[in-house]
Amino acid sequence: MSTDTINETGLSFEYTEEHLMIRKAARDFAKNELLPGAIERDRDAIYPKEQIRQLGELGFMGMMVDPKYGGGGMDTISYVLAMEEISKIDASCAVAMSVNNSLVCWGLETFGSEEQKEKYLPRLAKGEMIGAFCLSEPEAGSDATKQSTTAIDQGDHYLVNGTKNWITNGKYAGIYLVIAQSDREAGHRGINALIIEADSEGVTTGEKEDKMGIRSSDTCSVMFQDVKVPKENRIGEDGFGFKFAMKTLSGGRIGIAAQALGIASGAYELSVAYSKQRKAFGVEIAKHQAIQFKLADMATEIEAARLLCLKAAFDKDNHLDYATSSAMAKLFASETAMKTTTEAVQIHGGYGYVREYHVERMMRDAKITQIYEGTSEIQRIVISRSILK
Ligand code: CAA
Repeated sequence: MSTDTINETGLSFEYTEEHLMIRKAARDFAKNELLPGAIERDRDAIYPKEQIRQLGELGFMGMMVDPKYGGGGMDTISYVLAMEEISKIDASCAVAMSVNNSLVCWGLETFGSEEQKEKYLPRLAKGEMIGAFCLSEPEAGSDATKQSTTAIDQGDHYLVNGTKNWITNGKYAGIYLVIAQSDREAGHRGINALIIEADSEGVTTGEKEDKMGIRSSDTCSVMFQDVKVPKENRIGEDGFGFKFAMKTLSGGRIGIAAQALGIASGAYELSVAYSKQRKAFGVEIAKHQAIQFKLADMATEIEAARLLCLKAAFDKDNHLDYATSSAMAKLFASETAMKTTTEAVQIHGGYGYVREYHVERMMRDAKITQIYEGTSEIQRIVISRSILK
C-alpha cells in the first residue's frame, strides 16, 4: 500500500532505506521476542522487563535522542514505524517505549538544561533506566491546569507534596517528570516541571492497577511526601511547567496514535489470515462478501490513520506546528483501533472471544488509546480550537 503523501507545504515524503531497515528491525524483534508469551504476560499482568531491556539495547527506547547523549538520532517517522510494529504484537511494551521516547527523553532533550541532559539522557536513551511522566492526579486528568500537587519554593530546593495517578512506568521508573503547582495565584503560569529521582526520600508508589487492557504495562499511582527537589532539577524557567506538559504531550500523542495504528493493523493482519483459513458454508469465509467488506473498511481506515500519523511526524520533523496534526492522528487512529479490533473479534467469531486468540486482547488494549495522553474529547477540543481561533 502506498504511503506517499503531500504535505500542505507542497513537500512530499517517502520512506528512506533507513526507515525500512528500522521498520524491519522492529518487526523482527516483535515477532521473535514479543509474540512468545504475550498472552501469558497479559493474563498474569507481568511487566515485560527483559523485553524492555532488549528494546533499549536495540536503540528503541531513545530513538530520537541525539547520538551525543547516547540516542539513535532518528526522525519521528522512524519512531512511528517502530511503534506500529511493536504495538502490532504487544501494546503493553509499546506504551513503556512511547512514554520513555516521546514524553521523557524528548521533553528533557528539548527543554532540559545541558547538565540535566548529560546526567539523565544517556541511561534513558539506552533503556538502562526508564522514565515516567507525572501529570494526572486523582482530581486532575483532562483539566490539567488544576494541579493539587504542590512544589513550594524553599530557596535552594522545592518541597513537593501530592499524588499522581495512572502513571505509566510508575514502579520501574528511575526518574519522574513531575508537574506541580508552585504559585496557585498565578494559575497555569505558576506550575513547574521537576525531575524527581525515584529513590528520593518521600517517594512511594501505590499498588499496580488491575487494568482492562495493556495489562502487562506498569501503571500505578506515585506519592510525594515532603520530597526535597534541588532547584537545578526544574525544567525551564519558573512557571514553564504547564507549557512543558502541553508541548511534550503534543509529541506524545504521535506515539500513542502510532500505538493505536499498530493495534489496528495487528488485528487486521490476523483477521485476513483467519478469514483465508476458516471455512463456513463450504468455502473460506474470505470468499463471503460480508467478510470482504469488513476487511476493505479495516484496510482503508488503517491506511488513513497511518497517513495521519506520518503527517504529524512529518510536521514535527520539519518544525511545523504539530499540536493539531498530532491530535487528529491520535483521535482518528484510536477510534480506528477500537473499531478495527471489534470487527476483528466479529470475524473470528467465538474464537475471537477467548484468550487463546490475540484479538480479544487487542480489543481491550485499543480502548486505552482513546483515553490516555488526552481522551478523544480532549483531542476534539484541541482540533476545534485550532479551527476556530
Ligand atoms: N503547546 C504549547 N502551549 C500550549 C499548548 C500546546 N499544545 N496547549 C496549550 N498551551 C498553552 C496555551 O497557549 C496557554 O498559554 P497562555 O495562557 O500563555 O496563552 C496555556 O497553555 C493554557 O492553555 P489553555 O487555556 O488552552 O488551557 P486549558 O485549561 O483550556 O486546557 C487542554 C487545554 C488542551 C484541555 C489541556 O488541559 C489538555 O491537554 N488536557 C489533557 C491532559 C492530558 O493529555 N493528560 C494526559 C496525561 S499524560 C499520560 O497519559 C501519559 C501516560 O502515562 C501514557
